[in-house]
Amino acid sequence: MSGKRQFRIWRGDESGGDLQDYMVEVNEGEVVLDVIHRLQATDAPDLACRWNCKAGKCGSCSMEINGKPRLGCMTRMSTFGDDETVTVTPLRTFPVIRDLVTDVSFNYEKARETPAFAPPADVAPGDYRMQQVDVERSQEFRKCIECFLCQTVCHVIRDHEENKQAFSGPRYFIRAAELDMHPLDARTDRKEYAQAEQGLGFCNITKCCTEVCPEHIKITDNGIIPMKERVVDRRYDPLVWLGSKIFRRGETPQTSVTTARQGSATPGSARGGVHSHAGGSHDSRAEAQAQSGVNWHREVPHPTAPAVDDRGKLPLTELTFDRAAAPSPFGDDVTFPLPPEHLNFAHPEQDNKH
Ligand code: SF4
Ligand code: SF4
Ligand code: FES
Repeated sequence: MSGKRQFRIWRGDESGGDLQDYMVEVNEGEVVLDVIHRLQATDAPDLACRWNCKAGKCGSCSMEINGKPRLGCMTRMSTFGDDETVTVTPLRTFPVIRDLVTDVSFNYEKARETPAFAPPADVAPGDYRMQQVDVERSQEFRKCIECFLCQTVCHVIRDHEENKQAFSGPRYFIRAAELDMHPLDARTDRKEYAQAEQGLGFCNITKCCTEVCPEHIKITDNGIIPMKERVVDRRYDPLVWLGSKIFRRGETPQTSVTTARQGSATPGSARGGVHSHAGGSHDSRAEAQAQSGVNWHREVPHPTAPAVDDRGKLPLTELTFDRAAAPSPFGDDVTFPLPPEHLNFAHPEQDNKH
């Protein structure tokens, strides 16, 4: 395993560059980032490479290794054959700054465009207690380390600069899904927003994003597909269609709680002049719904005060009560959008050991 190995590394900047060959020593147990550090210490002191944690947690060392987007610090040299040349190139979807460092600001712009979490205005901090089940629903998506490997692999923007304006990418689809699962997110309907503004319609579920995610987030199965299905359900469900005929065009019956809060719970309606992207099929009705912040299936429950006694202590009985927190807006028996066993909290290889 130890010994000299052949590396080909892209060197250059925004004006151009090419692959350069290096023979470099590799030791037992090393990862690609170790070898890049050795090169910086020996043959290529000016080789630019971004990294921070060397533990697969900061998302900085994203690069393309033998054509596949991967984290340099999590790619073991033992995964390559002894005489295999290891080719390292910068992320293809984003402009090169120098060598292996790319300008990923596209992603931060998309993050900024995504409306932030906004609880109903009449729920004060501390008034609402989340149930564990509601925390767990979106836990998988919160594991994202923002390495943008899913963004660089997605064919919608990988070779199509022209799609970038209209497409936020898989990382922001799971952000929408995460907020959609939050019982207190009263901002707007995230699925409609994803369809109308984030370009969800461009995605044709190739699952490449899921394949490269170092956090093993099931981006397509658990985030994108449930959102797509529910957008379709809503548009083509005969009951919803009938409802939209009976009620005002583009509206469905609201729950009493949601209706009572509409004024305060829909700050999305305050936004104006937003350019629309409907993912290839512009739908002005969907856009209007997304903009007006219709909270279709959501019933934000009344806040429940923390069950503390007058000294501010948690009563002992709370520990034995199976419904210690506020009621879930999805209901006790509803495992929206996925049953817990479909969620992915850990590395699949760890799961297999049990
Ligand atoms: S599944 Fe969709 S978002 Fe993911 S890589 Fe394919 S097209 Fe892009
Ligand atoms: S979803 Fe996965 S691949 Fe995409 S940015 Fe987050 S951690 Fe990286
Ligand atoms: S250096 Fe932090 S993820 Fe690789």
